Amino acid sequence: MTLDRRTFLTRAGLGAAAAGAASAGLLGGASNAGAAGTAKDQVGANDPLLADAPIVIPSGDPTLATVAFHGQHQAGITTPKPPSGMFASFDVTAESRADLIDTLKTLTATARFLTSGGAAQLATTLAPPPDNGTLGPDVPADGLTITVAFGSTLFDERFGLTALKPKHLRPMQPFPNDNLDPAQTGGDVLIQLCAGNPDTTLHAMRQITRVTRGALALNWRIEGFVPPPRPSGVPRNTFAFKDGIANPNVGDPEVANRLLWVTDGIGEPAWTTGGSYHVIRIIKQFIEFWDRVSITEQQQMIGRFRASGAPLDGTNEADIPNYKADPLGYVIPLSAHIRLSNPRTTASEESRIFRRGYNYDRGVDLNDNMDVGLVFNCFQQDLDRQFIANQTRLIGEPMVDYISPVGGGYFFALPGVMDQHDWYARKLFS
Ligand code: HEM
Repeated sequence: MTLDRRTFLTRAGLGAAAAGAASAGLLGGASNAGAAGTAKDQVGANDPLLADAPIVIPSGDPTLATVAFHGQHQAGITTPKPPSGMFASFDVTAESRADLIDTLKTLTATARFLTSGGAAQLATTLAPPPDNGTLGPDVPADGLTITVAFGSTLFDERFGLTALKPKHLRPMQPFPNDNLDPAQTGGDVLIQLCAGNPDTTLHAMRQITRVTRGALALNWRIEGFVPPPRPSGVPRNTFAFKDGIANPNVGDPEVANRLLWVTDGIGEPAWTTGGSYHVIRIIKQFIEFWDRVSITEQQQMIGRFRASGAPLDGTNEADIPNYKADPLGYVIPLSAHIRLSNPRTTASEESRIFRRGYNYDRGVDLNDNMDVGLVFNCFQQDLDRQFIANQTRLIGEPMVDYISPVGGGYFFALPGVMDQHDWYARKLFS
């Protein structure tokens, strides 16, 4: 008697599920010979039912070019914002100042390698491979930037750094409408990783946790993404509005030295020159609720057109809103997000912040809402004069009904690593 394939599977007691698996190629060549099978029994690739799907290999190099690691300022602040971001907070568990210094030197060497790319360190047969291998044998730079910042808690009594704390640095204060969760707020060290692809940031994160094990303990971590422009211009956030349009022009050194970098002579400890206050707010966005709001009301809350990104008194996303021509807010309401955050007066100019946000999507929250939002991420010379002033003006804005800040922290992004001999925060310890 000859058995057709289906009859065989049924008689063998494997049933319909196995038949499905076989037709999907999951049982491979073993199906004619019971559970074990032999090479002789296998009918192989000539049987279309047993053949694997063709392997489709993406062509082209999808990785980004190298971003310079050494310099007066760290990369990852004014360098272009690539699509994948990761933010990780650590507690320092190093037992002494000397251990902390060693850890910072190790972290520097690791960051220098990861951001440059190169051959992954080879494994010996007996030892665990030094590289986790997820990027293959040649680690691409992929535009990776690693930006290291310290939280105020690092300046407690443990390492003798109290007198050298950046003067505005402190734990993140809750604002009205905040729901800060201690499990995703604060930390001694914050590392921002940005790159062309999410496996690049995750690979780097794993290498960093590996080489700093015992000295840095992971506290919280969040991944973010920047979508492609839809259809052009600045990418959109999860409220569908273009986000990141208006930012101070920090390509101009005068602007950067006034708004972004800590400079000499502004009352900060000398080691901080070239660094920047780094604020992260993990802001959940209630997108299901937002999707039930009329377009007119959405636009009034933000102050811009959703489709084009133009201010409500303009036509292009790059147009500058003219608040002087609209003192009572008939066109752009006085309560609009862009008007409150930057009223564009001479006085408010000094409080401008440099934003570098990422959208996030981390599944479903405990209330069965989509857990989607913004890793609000900004840098500035002076925490109080800039971020705090901005956030204070935004207290009670209409958008607060649709968002909930749940974590983040205030940090100080270190000055740059100057050359091969330098290491993160060297001047803090010398
Ligand atoms: C989930 C929360 C937030 C959303 C959805 C959001 C959304 C937006 C959008 C759509 C714009 C207009 C486009 C642009 O210029 O980038 C904007 C601008 C801006 N936002 Fe936010 N934002 C959020 C949180 C914040 C926070 C926490 C701050 C500061 C404390 C802030 C400060 C600003 C500033 C300074 C501008 C530029 C205003 C201008 O110069 O015209 N935003 N935001």
